[in-house]
Amino acid sequence: MAKIITIINQKGGVGKTTTAQAIGAWIQVKKNKKVLLLDIDQQGNLTYAIGARNSDYNMLEVLVAERIQADKIQLTPSKFWIIPSTPSLANVDIALTQTGKEYRLKKALVDLISYDFVVIDTPPTLNIITINALTASNYAVIPAQADIFSLQGITQLGQTIETVKRYTNKDLKVLGIVLTKHNTRSILSRDLQKVITDTAIQLQTKVYTQYVREALAVREAQAMKKDIFNYNHKSNATKDYDALMKQIWKDINQ
Ligand SMILES: Nc1ncnc2c1ncn2[C@@H]1O[C@H](COP(=O)(O)OP(=O)(O)OP(=O)(O)O)[C@@H](O)[C@H]1O
Ligand SMILES: [Mg+2]
Repeated sequence: MAKIITIINQKGGVGKTTTAQAIGAWIQVKKNKKVLLLDIDQQGNLTYAIGARNSDYNMLEVLVAERIQADKIQLTPSKFWIIPSTPSLANVDIALTQTGKEYRLKKALVDLISYDFVVIDTPPTLNIITINALTASNYAVIPAQADIFSLQGITQLGQTIETVKRYTNKDLKVLGIVLTKHNTRSILSRDLQKVITDTAIQLQTKVYTQYVREALAVREAQAMKKDIFNYNHKSNATKDYDALMKQIWKDINQ
């Protein structure tokens, strides 16, 4: 069975897609594992950044059918496997109304053989689609920015995770909070450090000691549709994601 990792935070622009792409690329490139990327964000940022085509075979189709057709999974020119997003995912609440709607992605992934990992990029909302991702996953990773507004919203995410653990996926493990887009010139105040630590405690998880620095290479790589490791292995963000992934890899394989 593939290990399934969801990247989640309902706050927008905190580095979910960037982190999902980096995690997926690192596991595939550095560990030589077969990774499937799932883009369940209607914005389709991961679909774009990984160089996938928009397609009729997309994540809405998967959620509606509760099944993945392995032969329809896309292989991008840079050799990543992905099921792309579609703007129609915006209407997913209407499409998925029946009972058991929390389990649709989990059911779809049951038959998925021949992949070692699945990495799911989620939208900046907490709705049935993010519940599907958390319900289907072994692990969750929470990218966040070290600012007070960004952290305030995590309480709500904590409640959602608790609900999922209680009702639909008791084995979900929140690996940790990853501080992204970090500016090394901004010193974290004691107050903010306390908020970050308290937030992690509240979510019964930790803050990864390895944060990810802000680097121009991230935006450039995404515009060029390359993963950060292939685009520029010397950029600060590349080095940080590499070091972070070593920590995450340990957590997954312990
Ligand atoms: N370490 C970094 N250095 C510089 N820019 C970054 C870094 N991480 C992310 N970004 C940029 O910040 C923006 C938001 O990042 P990203 O799209 O990954 O966030 P997101 O949480 O997925 O956003 P959304 O909630 O809209 O899905 C993007 O333009 C991305 O290129
Ligand atoms: Mg995103």
